[in-house]
Amino acid sequence: MMEVIKIEGGHELNGTISVGGSKNATVALIPAAVLACGGEIKIYGVPEIDDVENLINLLKELNVKVDYDGKDSISIVTDDMVNIPLESKAVTKLRASYYFMGALLGKYKRVQMKMPGGCYLGPRPIDLHLKGFEALGATVTYEQGSYIIEAKELIGNKIYLDFASVGATINIMFAAVYAQGKTVIENAAKEPEIIDVATMLNKMGANIKGAGTSMITIEGVECLVGCTHEIIPDRIVAGTYLILASAMAKEVTIENIIPHHLESLISKLQEMGVKMDVGIDTIKVSRAEKLTSVDINTQPYPGFATDLQQPLTTLLTQAEGTSIVRENIYTERFKHCLELQRMGADIQLSPAQATIEGPTPLDGDYVTATDLRCGASLIVAGLIAKGVTTIQDIYHIDRGYDNIDEKLRAIGANIWRATEKKD
Ligand code: EPZ
Repeated sequence: MMEVIKIEGGHELNGTISVGGSKNATVALIPAAVLACGGEIKIYGVPEIDDVENLINLLKELNVKVDYDGKDSISIVTDDMVNIPLESKAVTKLRASYYFMGALLGKYKRVQMKMPGGCYLGPRPIDLHLKGFEALGATVTYEQGSYIIEAKELIGNKIYLDFASVGATINIMFAAVYAQGKTVIENAAKEPEIIDVATMLNKMGANIKGAGTSMITIEGVECLVGCTHEIIPDRIVAGTYLILASAMAKEVTIENIIPHHLESLISKLQEMGVKMDVGIDTIKVSRAEKLTSVDINTQPYPGFATDLQQPLTTLLTQAEGTSIVRENIYTERFKHCLELQRMGADIQLSPAQATIEGPTPLDGDYVTATDLRCGASLIVAGLIAKGVTTIQDIYHIDRGYDNIDEKLRAIGANIWRATEKKD
Protein backbone atom coordinates (compact mmCIF):
# COMPACT_ATOMS: atom_id res chain seq x y z
CA MET A 1 0.00 0.00 0.00
CA MET A 2 1.19 3.53 -0.62
CA GLU A 3 0.03 7.06 0.03
CA VAL A 4 -1.04 9.06 -3.02
CA ILE A 5 -2.30 12.57 -3.65
CA LYS A 6 -5.56 12.84 -5.59
CA ILE A 7 -6.74 16.02 -7.28
CA GLU A 8 -10.04 16.64 -8.96
CA GLY A 9 -9.13 19.35 -11.44
CA GLY A 10 -10.99 22.35 -12.76
CA HIS A 11 -11.76 24.13 -9.49
CA GLU A 12 -11.06 27.84 -9.42
CA LEU A 13 -8.68 28.99 -6.65
CA ASN A 14 -9.51 31.95 -4.47
CA GLY A 15 -7.93 33.25 -1.27
CA THR A 16 -4.57 33.64 0.44
CA ILE A 17 -1.75 31.11 0.64
CA SER A 18 1.35 31.55 2.77
CA VAL A 19 4.91 30.49 2.02
CA GLY A 20 7.12 28.88 4.69
CA GLY A 21 10.87 29.04 5.22
CA SER A 22 13.20 28.08 2.38
CA LYS A 23 14.00 24.37 2.15
CA ASN A 24 17.33 24.92 0.45
CA ALA A 25 18.38 27.44 3.11
CA THR A 26 17.11 25.25 5.98
CA VAL A 27 19.01 22.18 4.82
CA ALA A 28 22.24 24.19 4.96
CA LEU A 29 21.45 26.15 8.14
CA ILE A 30 20.92 22.98 10.21
CA PRO A 31 24.36 21.55 9.35
CA ALA A 32 25.84 25.07 9.78
CA ALA A 33 24.71 24.95 13.41
CA VAL A 34 27.12 22.10 14.20
CA LEU A 35 30.00 24.52 13.59
CA ALA A 36 29.21 26.19 16.93
CA CYS A 37 31.62 25.43 19.77
CA GLY A 38 29.05 26.44 22.35
CA GLY A 39 25.70 28.07 22.93
CA GLU A 40 22.26 27.47 21.46
CA ILE A 41 21.38 28.00 17.80
CA LYS A 42 17.69 28.82 17.54
CA ILE A 43 16.28 28.85 14.00
CA TYR A 44 12.76 30.09 13.22
CA GLY A 45 10.65 29.60 10.10
CA VAL A 46 11.63 25.93 9.72
CA PRO A 47 9.37 24.34 7.07
CA GLU A 48 7.47 21.15 7.99
CA ILE A 49 9.17 18.91 5.43
CA ASP A 50 10.73 15.47 5.52
CA ASP A 51 14.23 16.79 4.75
CA VAL A 52 14.21 18.49 8.17
CA GLU A 53 13.34 15.18 9.87
CA ASN A 54 16.21 13.47 8.05
CA LEU A 55 18.70 16.15 9.06
CA ILE A 56 17.53 15.91 12.68
CA ASN A 57 18.23 12.17 12.55
CA LEU A 58 21.77 12.96 11.39
CA LEU A 59 22.21 15.52 14.19
CA LYS A 60 21.09 12.88 16.69
CA GLU A 61 23.67 10.43 15.34
CA LEU A 62 26.26 13.10 16.16
CA ASN A 63 24.84 13.36 19.70
CA VAL A 64 23.69 16.92 19.09
CA LYS A 65 20.84 18.08 21.33
CA VAL A 66 17.89 18.99 19.12
CA ASP A 67 14.57 20.40 20.17
CA TYR A 68 12.17 20.75 17.21
CA ASP A 69 8.60 21.83 17.82
CA GLY A 70 7.50 20.19 14.55
CA LYS A 71 6.11 23.48 13.31
CA ASP A 72 8.38 26.48 13.21
CA SER A 73 11.44 26.53 15.43
CA ILE A 74 14.40 24.32 16.10
CA SER A 75 16.96 24.59 18.88
CA ILE A 76 20.39 23.02 18.39
CA VAL A 77 23.05 22.64 21.11
CA THR A 78 26.37 21.01 20.23
CA ASP A 79 27.98 20.77 23.70
CA ASP A 80 28.09 16.94 23.78
CA MET A 81 28.58 16.44 20.03
CA VAL A 82 30.78 13.60 18.75
CA ASN A 83 32.30 13.33 15.28
CA ILE A 84 31.38 9.80 14.27
CA PRO A 85 31.18 8.50 10.65
CA LEU A 86 27.83 9.34 9.00
CA GLU A 87 26.98 6.15 7.17
CA SER A 88 23.32 5.50 7.99
CA LYS A 89 20.39 5.49 5.57
CA ALA A 90 19.52 9.07 6.57
CA VAL A 91 22.59 10.30 4.62
CA THR A 92 21.26 8.88 1.38
CA LYS A 93 17.75 10.29 1.81
CA LEU A 94 18.70 13.81 0.78
CA ARG A 95 21.33 15.62 -1.19
CA ALA A 96 21.96 18.23 1.46
CA SER A 97 23.52 15.73 3.86
CA TYR A 98 26.70 16.72 1.99
CA TYR A 99 26.74 19.93 4.03
CA PHE A 100 27.96 17.85 6.98
CA MET A 101 31.15 17.28 4.94
CA GLY A 102 32.15 20.95 5.03
CA ALA A 103 30.77 21.54 8.53
CA LEU A 104 32.49 18.55 10.20
CA LEU A 105 35.71 19.07 8.26
CA GLY A 106 35.69 22.74 9.29
CA LYS A 107 35.08 21.95 12.96
CA TYR A 108 37.03 18.71 13.50
CA LYS A 109 39.40 18.64 10.48
CA ARG A 110 38.01 15.19 9.69
CA VAL A 111 34.80 13.79 8.31
CA GLN A 112 33.78 10.33 7.20
CA MET A 113 30.49 9.94 5.39
CA LYS A 114 28.61 8.12 2.65
CA MET A 115 27.78 9.65 -0.71
CA PRO A 116 24.65 11.85 -0.26
CA GLY A 117 21.37 10.98 -2.01
CA GLY A 118 18.55 13.25 -3.17
CA CYS A 119 16.52 13.69 -6.34
CA TYR A 120 17.86 12.01 -9.48
CA LEU A 121 18.25 14.80 -12.01
CA GLY A 122 21.01 13.18 -14.08
CA PRO A 123 24.64 13.15 -12.88
CA ARG A 124 25.22 15.29 -9.78
CA PRO A 125 28.96 15.20 -9.08
CA ILE A 126 30.53 16.79 -5.99
CA ASP A 127 33.99 17.29 -7.49
CA LEU A 128 33.90 21.07 -6.93
CA HIS A 129 33.19 20.59 -3.21
CA LEU A 130 36.09 18.16 -2.91
CA LYS A 131 38.49 20.37 -4.90
CA GLY A 132 37.60 23.23 -2.55
CA PHE A 133 38.39 21.10 0.52
CA GLU A 134 41.69 20.04 -1.07
CA ALA A 135 42.58 23.66 -1.81
CA LEU A 136 42.24 24.32 1.93
CA GLY A 137 44.73 21.53 2.64
CA ALA A 138 42.49 18.47 3.09
CA THR A 139 43.06 15.05 1.55
CA VAL A 140 40.10 13.15 0.14
CA THR A 141 39.88 9.36 -0.05
CA TYR A 142 36.94 7.21 -1.06
CA GLU A 143 36.82 3.75 0.53
CA GLN A 144 33.98 1.22 0.58
CA GLY A 145 31.30 3.73 -0.34
CA SER A 146 32.43 6.43 2.09
CA TYR A 147 34.44 9.62 1.77
CA ILE A 148 37.17 10.30 4.30
CA ILE A 149 38.23 13.93 4.21
CA GLU A 150 40.87 15.09 6.64
CA ALA A 151 43.49 17.73 7.23
CA LYS A 152 46.21 18.41 9.81
CA GLU A 153 45.19 22.01 9.51
CA LEU A 154 43.05 23.98 7.12
CA ILE A 155 44.67 27.01 5.55
CA GLY A 156 42.81 29.74 3.66
CA ASN A 157 43.29 29.83 -0.10
CA LYS A 158 41.89 31.30 -3.30
CA ILE A 159 39.38 28.91 -4.90
CA TYR A 160 37.89 29.44 -8.35
CA LEU A 161 34.73 27.40 -9.02
CA ASP A 162 34.47 26.17 -12.62
CA PHE A 163 30.69 26.37 -12.17
CA ALA A 164 28.85 28.63 -9.71
CA SER A 165 27.65 25.66 -7.64
CA VAL A 166 25.32 26.38 -4.71
CA GLY A 167 26.42 23.33 -2.74
CA ALA A 168 30.15 23.83 -3.33
CA THR A 169 29.96 27.52 -2.36
CA ILE A 170 28.23 26.73 0.94
CA ASN A 171 30.39 23.71 1.73
CA ILE A 172 33.60 25.68 1.15
CA MET A 173 32.30 28.48 3.41
CA PHE A 174 31.72 25.86 6.13
CA ALA A 175 35.19 24.36 5.75
CA ALA A 176 36.81 27.81 5.70
CA VAL A 177 35.21 29.49 8.74
CA TYR A 178 37.85 28.04 11.08
CA ALA A 179 40.70 27.87 8.53
CA GLN A 180 43.82 29.92 9.18
CA GLY A 181 43.84 33.19 7.26
CA LYS A 182 41.70 34.23 4.35
CA THR A 183 39.75 32.13 1.83
CA VAL A 184 38.42 33.70 -1.34
CA ILE A 185 35.76 31.88 -3.41
CA GLU A 186 35.68 33.21 -6.96
CA ASN A 187 32.76 32.53 -9.30
CA ALA A 188 30.72 31.78 -6.18
CA ALA A 189 27.00 31.03 -6.54
CA LYS A 190 24.80 34.05 -5.78
CA GLU A 191 21.55 32.38 -4.69
CA PRO A 192 19.61 34.07 -1.83
CA GLU A 193 20.05 30.90 0.25
CA ILE A 194 23.81 31.53 0.28
CA ILE A 195 23.27 35.00 1.73
CA ASP A 196 20.98 33.48 4.38
CA VAL A 197 23.58 30.91 5.40
CA ALA A 198 26.40 33.51 5.50
CA THR A 199 24.15 35.78 7.57
CA MET A 200 23.59 33.08 10.19
CA LEU A 201 27.29 32.14 10.26
CA ASN A 202 28.21 35.80 10.76
CA LYS A 203 25.70 36.04 13.64
CA MET A 204 27.52 33.03 15.13
CA GLY A 205 30.79 34.96 14.91
CA ALA A 206 32.15 34.07 11.45
CA ASN A 207 33.75 36.73 9.24
CA ILE A 208 32.22 36.26 5.77
CA LYS A 209 31.92 39.07 3.26
CA GLY A 210 30.48 39.24 -0.25
CA ALA A 211 27.76 36.54 -0.02
CA GLY A 212 25.31 37.17 -2.86
CA THR A 213 28.13 38.30 -5.17
CA SER A 214 30.48 36.15 -7.24
CA MET A 215 33.36 36.73 -4.80
CA ILE A 216 33.05 35.61 -1.19
CA THR A 217 35.80 36.22 1.36
CA ILE A 218 36.03 34.22 4.56
CA GLU A 219 38.49 35.25 7.27
CA GLY A 220 39.05 32.32 9.64
CA VAL A 221 37.98 32.84 13.29
CA GLU A 222 38.63 30.96 16.56
CA CYS A 223 35.14 30.13 17.74
CA LEU A 224 31.50 30.27 16.65
CA VAL A 225 28.73 30.54 19.23
CA GLY A 226 24.93 30.42 19.48
CA CYS A 227 22.54 32.82 17.77
CA THR A 228 18.94 33.33 16.72
CA HIS A 229 18.01 33.28 13.04
CA GLU A 230 14.85 33.53 10.93
CA ILE A 231 14.93 31.64 7.60
CA ILE A 232 14.08 33.51 4.37
CA PRO A 233 10.84 32.49 2.59
CA ASP A 234 11.09 29.66 0.09
CA ARG A 235 11.32 31.25 -3.35
CA ILE A 236 10.73 27.93 -5.15
CA VAL A 237 7.56 27.15 -3.18
CA ALA A 238 6.46 30.77 -3.75
CA GLY A 239 7.19 30.35 -7.47
CA THR A 240 5.21 27.10 -7.57
CA TYR A 241 2.21 28.87 -5.97
CA LEU A 242 2.55 31.74 -8.48
CA ILE A 243 2.51 29.23 -11.32
CA LEU A 244 -0.51 27.29 -10.08
CA ALA A 245 -2.35 30.54 -9.38
CA SER A 246 -1.53 31.68 -12.93
CA ALA A 247 -3.33 28.57 -14.18
CA MET A 248 -6.34 28.42 -11.87
CA ALA A 249 -6.80 31.62 -9.85
CA LYS A 250 -9.87 33.73 -9.69
CA GLU A 251 -7.82 35.82 -7.28
CA VAL A 252 -5.01 34.33 -5.17
CA THR A 253 -2.70 36.28 -2.86
CA ILE A 254 0.61 34.66 -2.02
CA GLU A 255 2.07 36.01 1.20
CA ASN A 256 5.45 35.84 2.96
CA ILE A 257 7.27 36.19 -0.33
CA ILE A 258 10.33 38.23 -1.38
CA PRO A 259 9.37 39.33 -4.92
CA HIS A 260 12.99 40.35 -5.68
CA HIS A 261 14.00 36.65 -5.40
CA LEU A 262 11.47 35.78 -8.11
CA GLU A 263 12.18 38.45 -10.71
CA SER A 264 13.00 36.07 -13.56
CA LEU A 265 9.77 34.08 -12.99
CA ILE A 266 7.65 37.22 -12.53
CA SER A 267 8.87 38.70 -15.82
CA LYS A 268 8.23 35.41 -17.68
CA LEU A 269 4.70 35.18 -16.23
CA GLN A 270 4.05 38.81 -17.21
CA GLU A 271 5.30 38.00 -20.72
CA MET A 272 2.79 35.12 -20.78
CA GLY A 273 -0.05 37.51 -19.91
CA VAL A 274 -0.54 36.66 -16.23
CA LYS A 275 -2.07 39.51 -14.23
CA MET A 276 -0.07 40.20 -11.09
CA ASP A 277 -0.09 42.85 -8.42
CA VAL A 278 3.35 42.78 -6.82
CA GLY A 279 3.50 44.17 -3.26
CA ILE A 280 6.33 44.37 -0.72
CA ASP A 281 5.94 40.82 0.57
CA THR A 282 2.86 39.62 -1.30
CA ILE A 283 1.84 38.96 -4.90
CA LYS A 284 -1.80 38.89 -5.98
CA VAL A 285 -2.54 36.84 -9.11
CA SER A 286 -5.80 37.20 -11.05
CA ARG A 287 -6.87 34.90 -13.84
CA ALA A 288 -5.57 35.88 -17.26
CA GLU A 289 -7.87 35.89 -20.29
CA LYS A 290 -5.30 34.04 -22.33
CA LEU A 291 -1.76 32.74 -21.80
CA THR A 292 0.88 33.01 -24.54
CA SER A 293 3.96 30.89 -25.07
CA VAL A 294 7.45 31.93 -23.86
CA ASP A 295 10.94 30.45 -24.07
CA ILE A 296 12.86 29.53 -20.91
CA ASN A 297 16.58 29.15 -20.42
CA THR A 298 17.55 27.90 -16.95
CA GLN A 299 20.58 29.62 -15.41
CA PRO A 300 22.15 30.07 -11.97
CA TYR A 301 20.55 32.86 -9.91
CA PRO A 302 19.46 35.53 -10.84
CA GLY A 303 18.66 33.63 -14.06
CA PHE A 304 15.58 31.43 -14.41
CA ALA A 305 15.72 28.74 -11.68
CA THR A 306 15.99 25.12 -12.80
CA ASP A 307 13.75 24.22 -9.83
CA LEU A 308 10.89 26.23 -11.37
CA GLN A 309 11.39 24.87 -14.86
CA GLN A 310 9.32 21.76 -14.09
CA PRO A 311 6.19 23.47 -12.68
CA LEU A 312 6.37 26.16 -15.36
CA THR A 313 6.45 23.52 -18.12
CA THR A 314 2.97 22.45 -16.97
CA LEU A 315 1.68 26.03 -17.29
CA LEU A 316 3.21 26.28 -20.77
CA THR A 317 0.96 23.40 -21.90
CA GLN A 318 -1.91 25.89 -21.40
CA ALA A 319 -0.25 28.74 -23.35
CA GLU A 320 -1.01 29.48 -26.97
CA GLY A 321 1.90 28.80 -29.32
CA THR A 322 5.24 27.04 -29.13
CA SER A 323 7.40 27.33 -26.00
CA ILE A 324 10.99 26.13 -25.85
CA VAL A 325 12.50 25.18 -22.49
CA ARG A 326 16.29 24.82 -22.41
CA GLU A 327 17.69 23.19 -19.27
CA ASN A 328 21.29 24.24 -18.70
CA ILE A 329 21.80 23.14 -15.09
CA TYR A 330 20.53 19.54 -15.11
CA THR A 331 20.22 18.51 -18.74
CA GLU A 332 18.18 15.39 -17.90
CA ARG A 333 15.60 17.18 -15.71
CA PHE A 334 12.65 16.32 -17.96
CA LYS A 335 11.03 13.25 -16.36
CA HIS A 336 7.93 15.33 -15.58
CA CYS A 337 7.39 15.76 -19.35
CA LEU A 338 6.77 12.01 -19.75
CA GLU A 339 4.08 12.20 -17.06
CA LEU A 340 2.55 15.33 -18.63
CA GLN A 341 2.45 13.56 -22.00
CA ARG A 342 0.34 10.81 -20.38
CA MET A 343 -2.10 13.53 -19.37
CA GLY A 344 -2.34 14.86 -22.94
CA ALA A 345 0.44 17.45 -23.20
CA ASP A 346 2.11 17.96 -26.57
CA ILE A 347 5.81 17.99 -25.63
CA GLN A 348 8.73 16.99 -27.84
CA LEU A 349 11.95 16.14 -26.02
CA SER A 350 15.44 16.55 -27.43
CA PRO A 351 18.75 16.70 -25.50
CA ALA A 352 18.48 19.37 -22.78
CA GLN A 353 15.37 20.80 -24.40
CA ALA A 354 11.58 20.48 -24.37
CA THR A 355 9.32 21.98 -27.02
CA ILE A 356 5.77 22.51 -25.86
CA GLU A 357 2.82 23.15 -28.17
CA GLY A 358 -0.21 24.66 -26.53
CA PRO A 359 -2.81 24.96 -25.43
CA THR A 360 -3.75 21.33 -24.88
CA PRO A 361 -6.42 20.06 -22.51
CA LEU A 362 -5.05 17.79 -19.78
CA ASP A 363 -6.88 14.69 -18.56
CA GLY A 364 -6.53 13.22 -15.09
CA ASP A 365 -4.48 10.01 -14.98
CA TYR A 366 -2.19 7.96 -12.74
CA VAL A 367 1.19 9.72 -12.72
CA THR A 368 4.39 9.43 -10.73
CA ALA A 369 6.37 12.13 -8.94
CA THR A 370 9.83 10.98 -10.04
CA ASP A 371 11.48 13.83 -8.14
CA LEU A 372 10.45 16.78 -5.96
CA ARG A 373 9.78 19.42 -8.61
CA CYS A 374 8.29 16.83 -10.96
CA GLY A 375 5.79 16.34 -8.12
CA ALA A 376 5.12 20.09 -8.09
CA SER A 377 4.58 20.11 -11.86
CA LEU A 378 2.06 17.25 -11.49
CA ILE A 379 0.14 19.08 -8.77
CA VAL A 380 -0.20 22.04 -11.16
CA ALA A 381 -1.31 19.61 -13.88
CA GLY A 382 -3.83 17.93 -11.57
CA LEU A 383 -5.40 21.29 -10.67
CA ILE A 384 -5.86 22.08 -14.38
CA ALA A 385 -6.87 18.63 -15.65
CA LYS A 386 -10.31 17.29 -16.35
CA GLY A 387 -11.19 14.47 -13.95
CA VAL A 388 -9.07 12.99 -11.18
CA THR A 389 -5.28 12.86 -11.21
CA THR A 390 -3.55 10.42 -8.86
CA ILE A 391 0.06 11.22 -8.00
CA GLN A 392 2.21 8.33 -6.78
CA ASP A 393 5.57 8.45 -4.93
CA ILE A 394 4.52 11.58 -3.10
CA TYR A 395 7.36 11.21 -0.59
CA HIS A 396 9.31 13.35 -3.04
CA ILE A 397 6.73 16.15 -2.66
CA ASP A 398 6.79 15.87 1.14
CA ARG A 399 10.54 16.46 1.08
CA GLY A 400 10.03 20.05 -0.03
CA TYR A 401 6.45 21.36 0.17
CA ASP A 402 4.99 21.76 3.63
CA ASN A 403 1.32 20.76 3.90
CA ILE A 404 0.72 21.57 0.25
CA ASP A 405 -2.57 19.64 0.05
CA GLU A 406 -3.96 21.36 3.14
CA LYS A 407 -2.89 24.81 1.90
CA LEU A 408 -4.41 24.25 -1.55
CA ARG A 409 -7.67 22.93 -0.06
CA ALA A 410 -7.95 26.18 1.90
CA ILE A 411 -8.03 28.17 -1.37
CA GLY A 412 -10.58 25.97 -3.10
CA ALA A 413 -8.69 23.02 -4.61
CA ASN A 414 -10.21 19.56 -4.40
CA ILE A 415 -7.06 17.71 -3.32
CA TRP A 416 -6.73 14.91 -0.79
CA ARG A 417 -4.48 12.05 0.30
CA ALA A 418 -5.48 8.41 -0.01
CA THR A 419 -3.91 5.01 0.47
CA GLU A 420 -3.86 2.73 -2.54
CA LYS A 421 -2.29 -0.47 -3.76
CA LYS A 422 0.98 0.19 -5.61
CA ASP A 423 0.51 -0.63 -9.30
C1 EPZ B 1 21.12 23.12 -5.28
O1 EPZ B 1 21.66 21.86 -5.60
C2 EPZ B 1 19.70 22.86 -4.86
N1 EPZ B 1 19.71 21.93 -3.74
C3 EPZ B 1 18.91 22.26 -6.02
O2 EPZ B 1 17.57 22.20 -5.58
C4 EPZ B 1 18.99 23.19 -7.23
O3 EPZ B 1 18.37 22.57 -8.33
C5 EPZ B 1 20.44 23.47 -7.57
O4 EPZ B 1 21.13 24.00 -6.39
C6 EPZ B 1 20.61 24.49 -8.68
O5 EPZ B 1 20.01 25.69 -8.33
C7 EPZ B 1 19.96 22.38 -2.52
O6 EPZ B 1 20.18 23.57 -2.28
C8 EPZ B 1 19.96 21.37 -1.43
P1 EPZ B 1 24.70 22.96 -7.80
P2 EPZ B 1 23.23 21.69 -5.76
O7 EPZ B 1 25.90 22.46 -7.12
O8 EPZ B 1 23.90 22.59 -4.78
C9 EPZ B 1 27.19 20.94 -11.37
C10 EPZ B 1 15.40 21.25 -5.52
O9 EPZ B 1 14.52 20.80 -6.29
N2 EPZ B 1 28.15 20.57 -10.34
O10 EPZ B 1 24.49 24.44 -7.86
O11 EPZ B 1 23.53 20.25 -5.67
C11 EPZ B 1 25.88 20.15 -11.22
O12 EPZ B 1 25.97 18.88 -11.81
C12 EPZ B 1 16.83 21.03 -5.81
O13 EPZ B 1 15.16 21.88 -4.47
C13 EPZ B 1 29.31 19.95 -10.69
O14 EPZ B 1 29.58 19.68 -11.86
O15 EPZ B 1 23.41 22.25 -7.22
C14 EPZ B 1 24.90 21.06 -11.87
O16 EPZ B 1 24.96 20.89 -13.26
C15 EPZ B 1 17.21 19.87 -6.55
N3 EPZ B 1 30.20 19.61 -9.71
C16 EPZ B 1 25.42 22.44 -11.53
O17 EPZ B 1 26.80 22.27 -11.18
C17 EPZ B 1 29.97 19.88 -8.40
O18 EPZ B 1 30.81 19.57 -7.57
C18 EPZ B 1 24.69 23.14 -10.41
O19 EPZ B 1 24.69 22.36 -9.26
C19 EPZ B 1 28.77 20.51 -8.06
C20 EPZ B 1 27.87 20.85 -9.04
